[in-house]
Amino acid sequence: MGPPPQYALLRRSCPLARVTTPFGAPAWYVTRYDDVRKLLADDRFIRPTINDWPLDADAAARGPGLVTMMELDGPRHAALRQALAKPFSIRATRRRRPALRATADRLLAQIAANGPPRDLVSGFFEPFPLLVMCELVGIPYAERATFLAAADTALGALVTLEEGRAATRLLRSYTASLLERRRRAPGGDLLSSLVEDCDRGAVDEESVHAFGLSMLVAGYRTTTMFLANAALALLTEPDRYDRLVGDRALVPTAVEELLRFLPVQNGVIVLQARQDVTVHGRTIRAGEAVLPVVAAANRDERAFPEADRLVLDRQANPHLAFGRGPHNCIGAHLARTQLSVGLEALLDHFPRLRLTGQPPTWEDHSPVRSPLTLQVTW
Ligand code: HEM
Repeated sequence: MGPPPQYALLRRSCPLARVTTPFGAPAWYVTRYDDVRKLLADDRFIRPTINDWPLDADAAARGPGLVTMMELDGPRHAALRQALAKPFSIRATRRRRPALRATADRLLAQIAANGPPRDLVSGFFEPFPLLVMCELVGIPYAERATFLAAADTALGALVTLEEGRAATRLLRSYTASLLERRRRAPGGDLLSSLVEDCDRGAVDEESVHAFGLSMLVAGYRTTTMFLANAALALLTEPDRYDRLVGDRALVPTAVEELLRFLPVQNGVIVLQARQDVTVHGRTIRAGEAVLPVVAAANRDERAFPEADRLVLDRQANPHLAFGRGPHNCIGAHLARTQLSVGLEALLDHFPRLRLTGQPPTWEDHSPVRSPLTLQVTW
């Protein structure tokens, strides 16, 4: 569940390490908190597209990959962030809280009605963030079968050239169909308001596609994975879960600590140097790739005393789980609210929740690790 032990070794003795990715591409690994924090907001680095920094020999043949928000840069990216600032603000998110809680209650009541043992991932951690994201963005939940498998393929670390291409084509045509439908029949959702922004020239159509794709591949999966990892961490040592049952005021602090402690983003942010940059006396050449490892930075003793302990009431907690800089997670307030609401609802519905003892199943081929199933009883 935790980050690999090699991270501690790298932080101590080789904070900027030359590595080769599983696809054979050279890159630099950065593992100390201060370095990762600085690099994420350093404008001498960009987030490259797959064509700027091919992950493997076949990448060039694959043609333009998924252009998500992470690959947009400069004024186009700034315009899109501005168009999204209000709907993702703390205020807008606070207003959504009762609706989020109602969704969580409905799903958990269904689990309770079916009786133990149950799988929390398929019953709650998957549908909850997906329902929230679909409603916010304007994606019909009933159409999820159209994009879920393709999004997983597009994110997958070990897909073939053909599978990757087919998934990209499918996601792209799905966002095109969504935009067309919103243009014909606008609703009160995010895509409708972006189409409007697009028609009055505030953002361009490619940026709206990039946002749609970001949502399809990242607007719910991270939350699902985080909730599953968090429940496992709390239930593996049930005193932790029971402590939260007895003290709900602790939930927001516990959520921040779980975000720090659990490696959802295990080195998947890729940066590329625009110019030569010296770090720890070594030169990163223009064009080279750098991987700031958030999961390693979040366990750095220099920033977090007792960094390898899960301290549910940790006070100062400037973790980097949502990144930093111009591309920091725009969904951070929403994610925090979903995590708190989801956890509170779980504690309320199941104060005596326990793991069944059946080991969780894991996704083996992903750069991000989380249980695919989590059997519980109560
Ligand atoms: C526990 C849940 C989540 C975690 C840990 C997480 C983490 C991250 C991280 C690390 C980044 C990249 C930051 C960087 O490069 O500096 C990111 C970007 C992003 N996230 Fe999240 N995220 C979560 C949930 C969400 C949700 C719920 C949404 C929206 C519904 C969302 C939307 C986005 C978008 C659109 C970006 C790209 C922003 C940009 O390029 O400007 N995320 N997220």
